[in-house]
Amino acid sequence: MQVLGIKTDLINPGDNLAKALQKGLQDCGLSLQDGDILVVSESVVATAEGRVVDLDDVVPGSKARALALRYDKDPREMELILRESDLVVGGIPGVVLTMNQGSLFPNAGIDHSNAPPGHVVLFPSDPHKTAAEIAAGIAPGKRIGVIIGDSRTHPLRLGCVGVALACHGLEPVEDARGQKDLYGRPLLITRKAVADNLVSAAQIVMGEGDESIPAAIIRGSPVKVRKDAACEIPRIAPEECMYLGALSSGLRPYAGGYDDLIRSAVEARDRAYAPYSGFRVGAALLSRSGRVFSAGNVENASSGAGICAERNALGRALAAGERDFLAIAITSDARRPVPPCGICRQSLIEFGEEIEVIMCNLAGEARVAKISDLLPNPFKGDLLKR
Ligand code: THU
Repeated sequence: MQVLGIKTDLINPGDNLAKALQKGLQDCGLSLQDGDILVVSESVVATAEGRVVDLDDVVPGSKARALALRYDKDPREMELILRESDLVVGGIPGVVLTMNQGSLFPNAGIDHSNAPPGHVVLFPSDPHKTAAEIAAGIAPGKRIGVIIGDSRTHPLRLGCVGVALACHGLEPVEDARGQKDLYGRPLLITRKAVADNLVSAAQIVMGEGDESIPAAIIRGSPVKVRKDAACEIPRIAPEECMYLGALSSGLRPYAGGYDDLIRSAVEARDRAYAPYSGFRVGAALLSRSGRVFSAGNVENASSGAGICAERNALGRALAAGERDFLAIAITSDARRPVPPCGICRQSLIEFGEEIEVIMCNLAGEARVAKISDLLPNPFKGDLLKR
């Protein structure tokens, strides 16, 4: 397999990228052959599309200014990040992690590098369309695969690897399940990120700096280029992602199994004593022995003497001799499913880190989390043994 870099003239906004790459090929004395895969860097795609923004033209809003302070970023860039992404997941000083159409990006894919001073390059507007256009335009009549490539870091690893944003004419992920391992056992979950690996190979010759090598040809690889390949880059849901799943809040939609417990909580709410706030809460606690203890909140003219529904239910259960609990359902007058207050989290975790908390509203919506996800790093009795 060969990887051949294509040096081009500087690509400017409005340039025809297929033409610029053709000229680059000519200047390098190269021509495309059937089965070649062309990897093109996303930054030239975005630049040719004119996705270059002068930061002085951007007026940051209040949300952008607040996030810029928090993450130590230029407020104008943060404004662009907010406009370009569906969600800011979090961040560290200098970089925020954003989600867009189900994929994660650093800073919404907005680049300073290879942009003129004071400018940034936004993410390409439609990399799939561009990949198809380049494939059709650069070598008419030839069977050419095209990948638009970007770079990413892996969690806890230094350095970038290649990632395919879009591709045309090849299957981006090869399903290797069913193949045998060295010992004849079937591979169960192995999928090969073929397009990502090809981008990494191309990046060995492309570089990210002033090399002016924004594309590379991959020739003689075992990857089949087919006109009818399903080129959509497959994604997985956040719940199925090892990194996101392991680091998320642990909150998930209610998937059934506690309908009776929820009904008990709703009934307990009807008997709550909340004449001062008018906010009635009901809780139903399920012990490992299968018994249910429910209660509402009980308020008092001396407001600090009031007690939450959850701790009332817990008190009833403890008084009945129970110490081991599986789940608690909570409902209230609030519009969104009600999370337990901090004191109740502390009271519950005393009796089991695995207790499932089913947070409900009266409209029938519910969310579930383990108590240890709602109260990470809890104060526990073992700390008292100095
Ligand atoms: N309340 C609960 O019963 N459980 C909670 O987790 C949060 C708050 C009650 C206490 C008070 O009677 C009313 O809601 C308003 O704060």
